[in-house]
Amino acid sequence: MSIGVAVIGVGHWGPNLARNLHNELGVELRWVVDRDPDRLDYVRQSLPGVGTSTTVDDVWSDPEVDAVAIATPTSTHGKLVEEALRSGKHVLVEKPIVDDSVLGTSLVDLAAELGLVLMVGHVFLFNEAILVAKRLLDEGELGEVFHVTMVRTNLGPIRYDVNVNWDLAAHDVSIANYLLGSGPLSVSAVGGSWINPDIVDAVFATLRYPGNILVNLHLSWLSPRKVRDITIVGSEKMLTVDDLSLTEPIRIHDKGVSAERITPTWTDNYMSFRSSVRDGAIHIPKVNLNEPLKAECRHFLENVRSGETPRSDGAFGVGVVRVLEAIDRSLESSGSEHAV
Ligand SMILES: NC(=O)c1ccc[n+]([C@@H]2O[C@H](COP(=O)([O-])OP(=O)(O)OC[C@H]3O[C@@H](n4cnc5c(N)ncnc54)[C@H](O)[C@@H]3O)[C@@H](O)[C@H]2O)c1
Repeated sequence: MSIGVAVIGVGHWGPNLARNLHNELGVELRWVVDRDPDRLDYVRQSLPGVGTSTTVDDVWSDPEVDAVAIATPTSTHGKLVEEALRSGKHVLVEKPIVDDSVLGTSLVDLAAELGLVLMVGHVFLFNEAILVAKRLLDEGELGEVFHVTMVRTNLGPIRYDVNVNWDLAAHDVSIANYLLGSGPLSVSAVGGSWINPDIVDAVFATLRYPGNILVNLHLSWLSPRKVRDITIVGSEKMLTVDDLSLTEPIRIHDKGVSAERITPTWTDNYMSFRSSVRDGAIHIPKVNLNEPLKAECRHFLENVRSGETPRSDGAFGVGVVRVLEAIDRSLESSGSEHAV
């Protein structure tokens, strides 16, 4: 079955969605909508034959459109997702699903009631390196997970509609929730605003997951280096992901520390533990790097066809939003611990 699709919002990210959906076999990209007519010039040049419009009403009233992809600013998602669902369209909405978890839950309920797919564009859930890390964790390769460090820094792009938490933590929280198979129980976070007094530019957050797993996030758009690093420390092995590496994003470090309780001697009556460090080999598994957004679009289309639940469905997206809300609450209370 051929699927008719539309893309709404072609600023920075939307053109990538439009390109991927346009190139997919069995898909007809019928409309690209942006309220800024200048943005539609790009579509007329690069995707000839695709309808363009400055109003979403053209999409809602087109019976040949089965599904839409929404890449407008986060504050506009709620209204657009609701209108799309009420017009009978399946929805792929960019992350974060919305800026309010209560609103997000109502959209999840609406999609379920109408029998429509609601998927959130958490693109890292379609990144091969993250999928390999997930498989290794699920297979117990690292043993029991102790703690995770995630660094996402760069100089820009600086946003004026959302703070760095809503812009960047959405990625890391989605990765952590996916890898660990649940959301955190509580968060504490501090941050600072140096560029615009009302918008936080850097966040240092600690998330406490079930099983006493600690996840630390360092997020900044005010940093000299672009870093996309994850370190997972387990009882048996440790794993690092460098998302900027095009060839070897994952390393499994056969490193660890074993400690044993010992009986204190007469010379040393306070030391009751002896530890030994294992500093073994580093294994670099083969990762077949793909274009994650292409895989994400394909997953959405498969779910539209099959009616199955997407990996990053609306409920998953709302789970991420709850964490972002808790981080904001903690930022406002100088880092005190907040339940999610
Ligand atoms: N998955 C990712 O890695 C990734 C990367 C970047 C952005 N995003 C997400 O994509 C979304 C868009 O981000 P962006 O950087 O492309 O923003 P942007 O501001 O560059 O582009 C948004 C576009 O939407 C248009 N628009 C706004 N309101 C509209 C409406 N009601 N109807 C039609 N068009 C409208 C604007 O004119 C603009 O062209 C955000 O939710 C963002 O978080 C995701």
